[in-house]
Amino acid sequence: MDTPDDPIDQVSHEAFPVDNPIQALLRDHALVRKLAERYRNSDSMEVKKQAATQLLQAIHMHSRLEESVFYPAVRRVEPNLIALFEEEHLAVDDLLATLQGMSMNDPAAQPLVLEMIDVVLSHIEEEETELFPQLQHAVIDMTPIGLEMQAFEANLVHMQAQLSERRARR
Ligand SMILES: [Fe+2]
Ligand SMILES: [Fe+2]
Repeated sequence: MDTPDDPIDQVSHEAFPVDNPIQALLRDHALVRKLAERYRNSDSMEVKKQAATQLLQAIHMHSRLEESVFYPAVRRVEPNLIALFEEEHLAVDDLLATLQGMSMNDPAAQPLVLEMIDVVLSHIEEEETELFPQLQHAVIDMTPIGLEMQAFEANLVHMQAQLSERRARR
């Protein structure tokens, strides 16, 4: 099913930048923007369905990585901002949960995907303009955070692969 220009494939083959974990988050953001653009710009139902499925997965994994490792590690630098971001994640999770329970062929899915894209794009924009620059000035050793994020992500990818394998066997 993977096409040569599959953006998810491109990201998953790059090494995790342990000494600069913000780079990894930016890479995820770029992937989300690319998939969102593909979803919005395509007229093909097939392309839209694939982009939406990949978007749901990319956003889910990215949110878990931030909430479980990155946000706790940098919370003390911008506690109010992190609290706001966690609330925004909850709003996205609601949309994700609704969409995961729907077929992408359902006509009601499209407005929900578009709504989720809007919310997510404005959230990642806030992270990039309000949080990441602050962290550049903060005295934080990023490498231990990067190592923890790398391990967390590897575990998520592993679990995701097991899940897909189990689904394929059904
Ligand atoms: Fe986030
Ligand atoms: Fe993010």
